[in-house]
Amino acid sequence: MWCRTVLFNIMLYYLIILSYLCSVCVNSHLGLYEGATCESNGVKGRCVSLYKCLGTLVDKKENIQTPICSFEGKTPIVCCTDCDLVEDIRKMIMDAQLGFLYLTGKKAEDACTRFKNKIDFGCKHGYGHTWYYELLRLRYSEAKKCHKVSLEKFDEYLYVEGQDAERYQYPHMALLGYGPDVDSALWLCGGTVISERFILTAAHCLSQPKIGPVKYIALGILRRSDPLDKWQRYNVRRVVPHPEYKSPSKYHDIALLETDTEIKFNDDVHPACLHTKGEADEVLTGTGWGALGHRQQLADTLQTLDISRFSEEECMQHYPKYRHLLQGYNHTTQMCYGDRVTVADSCEGDSGGPLQSKTLDEHRCVTTVVGVTSAGKQCGITAGSGLYTRVIHYVPWIESVVWP
Ligand SMILES: *[C@@H]1O[C@H](CO)[C@@H](O)[C@H](O)[C@H]1NC(C)=O
Repeated sequence: MWCRTVLFNIMLYYLIILSYLCSVCVNSHLGLYEGATCESNGVKGRCVSLYKCLGTLVDKKENIQTPICSFEGKTPIVCCTDCDLVEDIRKMIMDAQLGFLYLTGKKAEDACTRFKNKIDFGCKHGYGHTWYYELLRLRYSEAKKCHKVSLEKFDEYLYVEGQDAERYQYPHMALLGYGPDVDSALWLCGGTVISERFILTAAHCLSQPKIGPVKYIALGILRRSDPLDKWQRYNVRRVVPHPEYKSPSKYHDIALLETDTEIKFNDDVHPACLHTKGEADEVLTGTGWGALGHRQQLADTLQTLDISRFSEEECMQHYPKYRHLLQGYNHTTQMCYGDRVTVADSCEGDSGGPLQSKTLDEHRCVTTVVGVTSAGKQCGITAGSGLYTRVIHYVPWIESVVWP
């Protein structure tokens, strides 16, 4: 393994400093309260909570004793000479490759941030070289008379022998299996890995007419014909359809599958993040092993398709009221994407798979699932759009199940 994993959790570091400061200096502080001006090694500073002062990290590294103004409860108020204070050090993760990552307190977003820190995503290194952030640096700003705290980036060139072929681009794709035993199972729907335990899919994929309920999950696959020992297979322990889903209606067509054991993340298997904020791109990518056209056989190699957003009015025309969509297309909970000119639509077998964006993530690191493939027109016959469940609307429900 050529990739060095230097993960550094600021919080842990701070706990160490905290215990050190508390034990050493509890009786020897300056008697200054939060907001007061102070001085540290000849530089003017402000008395602030330890959690707002990144510079103390550097002091600790260089064995400099940060002056303590006072205590608020058990939290030291330190004399901070940083030019800019941070909001709260406990909400920051310093990633050796990505720099500072900020936690928001929202479950799906924080899970995504932790994945980015923990998992060796392809974005974290280029071909043959990689980069690391040095721990923090303090630089005195003569103009501002304070310390600028920065992370320094440096490249590290590595000689890499036998670089693997390009990494599999959609390592969050799942294939769902039905039937009495895993070796003869039929793999008829797609899904997305969103945590160590859960796959996001469409509610109508929870069972197949005449075959029965979803039982197996296969990950790390690029081709259906890949040898079985390359597949990571899991049994479905629990299925959680959206509580308002009523088959065969197309509303709330979203569900979660829990695996029987924890999913092992590796180069071929990674989670995707959920779309929680910002507007989805005009063009998104659908992926699936669905039929290559109407009444044609299922695809062997994972297919990807870039499709464009249709307006609410267009979607309403494509999906008028009918018995499985009694109120017609609902823009709050659904969306439709497709191609106005050529035939580009999802087909049977693509159901449950993601409609995704590579650019919603600020680091361009993780794929973001924006939609779940719900229904298509008769694919391959007319130009048109596919119907997708709008993930952002269902994030609170997903969080309540996946990160309770
Ligand atoms: C669309 O769905 C939402 C959520 O279920 C619902 O509150 C809303 O009334 C629906 N809109 C229409 C026009 O049916």
